[in-house]
Amino acid sequence: MQIIVRGARLATEGGGTAPGTYDVECEGGRIARVLPADDQKEPPATGRVIEAHGALLTPPFVEPHIHLDTALTAGEPRWNASGTLWEGIACWSERKRTLTREDVVSRATEVLRWQAAQGVLHVRTHCDTTDPELTALDALLEVRDRVRDVLDLQVTAFPQEGVHSFPGGAELLAEAVARGVDAVGAIPHYEDTREDGVASLHTVFALAERHGLRIDAHCDETDDEQSRFVEVLAALALRSGLRDRVTASHTTAMGSYNGSYAHRLQGLLVRSGIGLVCNPFANLNLQGRFDDHPKRRGLTRVKELLGAGCPVAFGHDDVMDPWNPLGTGNPLQTVLAGVYAAQLTGPEEIDTAFSMVTDRAARVLGLGEGYGLVAGRPANFLLLPADSPFDAVRRQVAPRYVVSRGRVLAETPYAPARLYWPGEDPEPVDFVRRRDADSAHWRRLPF
Ligand code: FE2
Repeated sequence: MQIIVRGARLATEGGGTAPGTYDVECEGGRIARVLPADDQKEPPATGRVIEAHGALLTPPFVEPHIHLDTALTAGEPRWNASGTLWEGIACWSERKRTLTREDVVSRATEVLRWQAAQGVLHVRTHCDTTDPELTALDALLEVRDRVRDVLDLQVTAFPQEGVHSFPGGAELLAEAVARGVDAVGAIPHYEDTREDGVASLHTVFALAERHGLRIDAHCDETDDEQSRFVEVLAALALRSGLRDRVTASHTTAMGSYNGSYAHRLQGLLVRSGIGLVCNPFANLNLQGRFDDHPKRRGLTRVKELLGAGCPVAFGHDDVMDPWNPLGTGNPLQTVLAGVYAAQLTGPEEIDTAFSMVTDRAARVLGLGEGYGLVAGRPANFLLLPADSPFDAVRRQVAPRYVVSRGRVLAETPYAPARLYWPGEDPEPVDFVRRRDADSAHWRRLPF
């Protein structure tokens, strides 16, 4: 069915809002036209018209980093008592022995449904390959096919317990590649020695080059200021020419590097063209656990990397698993955590933070012309009951409509609280300031 959105504000690339309002017309699952709003124009005889009343139309949320194989396993077989990355890996290692295909398919699909309902239509999941049966991998490849008509899922082969430090780790990674993943990962800071860590990155680049795959490595996810594998990753990306097909995830040690080293590294990161993903929930939780006070924030240098022009995205990482007991997969919660953790609290920085789960994340994932509010591209977008990305982040709004492949996939009624203040008529409260309420026309969005 044809969809026309009338009178929407458009989110712009990099954060912010375009002046004026627009009509967006879709045909055959693609965006056919984006035109300045014209309320004199007759709506089409067939199809569905969505009156936006000036609400914010944005390309869908992009989840650049999640672990769907481990999701919804918190407390199984035990909780992560110390809250460290290392105990989390140990808990998962125990749970991993009981995996079945149905178990992984069911949990992964459940979280994808939660994310789709909240406007996420592009997802990169990591999948642990340090399992001799590769049970989770086969399950996630199956899920990728099953959800294809709704959202795009990239599967990264992730050697959670090491490439060279886990028995058969390199062979399992190669087998995962042979079974059809989208990207290859690594975990160099977890390998037994620095040499093993460097070797693991060479192994991963060789695999990626041979099979034409992207790379997304968990890299330097530790508070150890001596963990310096991201320089190896960036140098290999530069020399191999893979450049923006390479992502460094977490890189939390960067938050502990001395200024002199960080400055030199930043120059290399810019030259390499690699993308970076910061996961504020997981790393606010996991890092600093070995510190006495003051405890480090344990995040990568988000503000500095953005300032240098590096593509940086925010990821949710874990949803109810040994590394994060909470979460619903909501990208606006991720942004809120990231805004505070990385001190992105200037108004333009808050718009930028929003773009770290939209177009900046799309760039990290290499979505190219498969993403964006541009004629000819897939009709995937969200209508947010908000004036701007800043407003959407502040009030943590749910998408009124999620449109995927030109059809409405999810809708959340716009339902403010109702306040019965003594001596006054009942009043809706949606946290829009009273002085702005008259101009917030999107409040007329039909329930
Ligand atoms: Fe991760």
